[in-house]
Amino acid sequence: MEKTCRALIVGDVVGRCGRQALEQALAELQWELRVDFTVVNGENISGGKGISRRGFAFLRQLGVDAVTLGNHIWGHREVAGLLEQEPGLCRPANLPPGTPGCGWRLLPCGGLQIAVVNLLGRVYMNMPALDCPFRTAQALLAEIRQHTPIILVDFHAEATSEKQALANFLDGRVTAVWGTHTHVQTNDARLLPRGTAYLTDVGMTGARDSILGVETEGVVERYLTGRPQPFVVAQGGDAQLNGLLLEFDAAGRARQIETVQRLVTLH
Ligand SMILES: [Fe+2]
Ligand SMILES: [Fe+2]
Repeated sequence: MEKTCRALIVGDVVGRCGRQALEQALAELQWELRVDFTVVNGENISGGKGISRRGFAFLRQLGVDAVTLGNHIWGHREVAGLLEQEPGLCRPANLPPGTPGCGWRLLPCGGLQIAVVNLLGRVYMNMPALDCPFRTAQALLAEIRQHTPIILVDFHAEATSEKQALANFLDGRVTAVWGTHTHVQTNDARLLPRGTAYLTDVGMTGARDSILGVETEGVVERYLTGRPQPFVVAQGGDAQLNGLLLEFDAAGRARQIETVQRLVTLH
């Protein structure tokens, strides 16, 4: 039988609660699902915004192969150095030229090479300096294909239509496109007509009783009063781990995609 590879993709890990959930649940999940390669979106891992050196080291020590980011990339100043030093850390490819780090990474997995790409959407994102994610992806593909046919794309975007559009634009040319950023998992995992695996949003890993990983009170208050409130990462209670499981072959063809949700009772 032809060798296939299984990748676990974990949605935005939010703060300490998200880290605890991952620490408790990841190893068992990797074993149970026979995972060969793990990708985690780390844009909210340190204090809810951004990734620190400690946050990145934590993920690496848990056996995470690739870490992707998003609009909260600059939450911690030290990320600039990390982006330059760490081959397992991938930043959005459509940030302006001159941004430290790289928008795609080539990483080994068994005898295979896996390319991980990170892109930011432009709809409702309020990041004025972003290049077009579609044209950026198109330009990157030519380069990446010289190295590997296995291409995994984390599209960090708000609008479902933009996510579906990018996935269909890349259909048949990449192994998988999944969305991150909304922190709510969607129920549309499937193979697109030309074979690319797709999920609109992977969801988030963090406090179950929260609003997108943040304490509910402040968020409700903000809607009630229209006044800014500090966002506090929610703690306590159960946590959720949201992700997806992807199976593909050595030619980069997706075989299967399914969502993963785990409730983690923190101890
Ligand atoms: Fe996020
Ligand atoms: Fe985000």
